[in-house]
Amino acid sequence: MDKLLISGGACLEGELRASGAKNSAVTILAASLLANEPVTISNVPHLRDITTMIELLVSMGVEVVVDEKMNIEIHANTIKSFVAPYDLVRTMRASFLVLGPLLAHYGEAEVSLPGGCAIGPRPVDLHLRGLEALGAIIEMKEGYVKARVNGRLKGARFIFDVSTVGGTEHIMMAAALAEGTTVLENCAREPEIIDLADFLNAMGAKVSGQGTDTITIEGVESLGGCDHHVIADRVEAATYLIAAAATGGHVKMRDVIPEHLDVVTSKLRESGADVTIGEDWIDLDMRGRRPKAVSLVTAPYPGFPTDLQAQFLAMNTIAEGTATVKETIFENRFMHVHEMNRMGAQIRLEGNNTTAIVEGVDVLQAAPVMANDLRASVSLVIAALIADGDTVVNRIYHIDRGYEQVEEKLQNLGAKIKRIQSR
Ligand code: EPZ
Repeated sequence: MDKLLISGGACLEGELRASGAKNSAVTILAASLLANEPVTISNVPHLRDITTMIELLVSMGVEVVVDEKMNIEIHANTIKSFVAPYDLVRTMRASFLVLGPLLAHYGEAEVSLPGGCAIGPRPVDLHLRGLEALGAIIEMKEGYVKARVNGRLKGARFIFDVSTVGGTEHIMMAAALAEGTTVLENCAREPEIIDLADFLNAMGAKVSGQGTDTITIEGVESLGGCDHHVIADRVEAATYLIAAAATGGHVKMRDVIPEHLDVVTSKLRESGADVTIGEDWIDLDMRGRRPKAVSLVTAPYPGFPTDLQAQFLAMNTIAEGTATVKETIFENRFMHVHEMNRMGAQIRLEGNNTTAIVEGVDVLQAAPVMANDLRASVSLVIAALIADGDTVVNRIYHIDRGYEQVEEKLQNLGAKIKRIQSR
């Protein structure tokens, strides 16, 4: 397994372009199964999760053409099998999202249950209840969800018990081809949901209300081809801005959608950074200063994203003062804490491991570290950038799932980082 070797101490400086959003792209690839004609998707990041989703589509007989710029053309109507096997769903939970589109378009699907993962149990009960509300007949057998429908799915009203990004996306996709109107309430409002709705509407769907907590979908009989440009990855962009703040640096992120990062830029200002915002860029200048501690509570959008909690925690380890960081979305998303403490951080977990109290120290010390989740892993890269000495971050295949060319991008900003490839 590859590792990253990072020599701490560099102050990050320079400009970067944000990649396309992983969490939008994986869902849009699943949604392409709804189309009767070829669709083309651009601004897709070159990442392991994207390759997994393409592999899944290809395993079902779907023709997928990828060019050198990662423009992806998908011919869903070449499909031959409606099965998403355990081996692929296990490696990426988002592949479960093919269930709804397969069912809505072809009337049947057999998709492995994703199971838990490092950050918590992550159930899919609301996905299944939403599909059942639309008339799906669902059976669990040997770890698989076997779903079918007599005729077409039928529009219905469905209220989500909790705000779920994947659940909202899943039922939106299925409802696009249902007979009649679906009204979804207590929906998640993340920008990736708006991107998916834009993709569905470009194919001829009738989705409205995306970005609010009530989404209405007037089902149509069929969906056609379209070209779609995926939105910028707000989590990737913010990760580099936080890394810049933590190292006292100055970084400008280009090709971003600044309004998607309002809560994050306000937290970065709280850390003492000068943040300037343009139409499609964000410039952060820490002017060599030590960041101030920033407390936060994760929440569904537009609240503070759980996907940036670990990165802020890394910055807080060397900040001036004490920060309280509360995780409310996932049960087990503090695995980076123990690794950071091994580097000399002063973090204690309270409240049944839902809250981290971080007392800023002057400096972290290098140590071999690893994590079992994407954002925890990248937070250790930030910790390594501010540590004294050479840190080896192990198991970086997690980072490769969500950060395109991470070492090249960080090298461009002046970081001393290199990949150690294992055979
Ligand atoms: C999406 O996961 C993202 N993944 C996650 O990003 C992100 O952390 C998460 O949303 C929250 O923003 C993708 O978009 C591919 P949820 P998702 O359903 O959709 C509970 C990353 O690092 N819930 O919004 O799976 C669930 O357990 C990843 O890029 C149910 O109870 O998250 C959690 O507590 C990690 N029943 C809460 O809802 C359900 O049926 C929110 O989860 C579904 C969810």
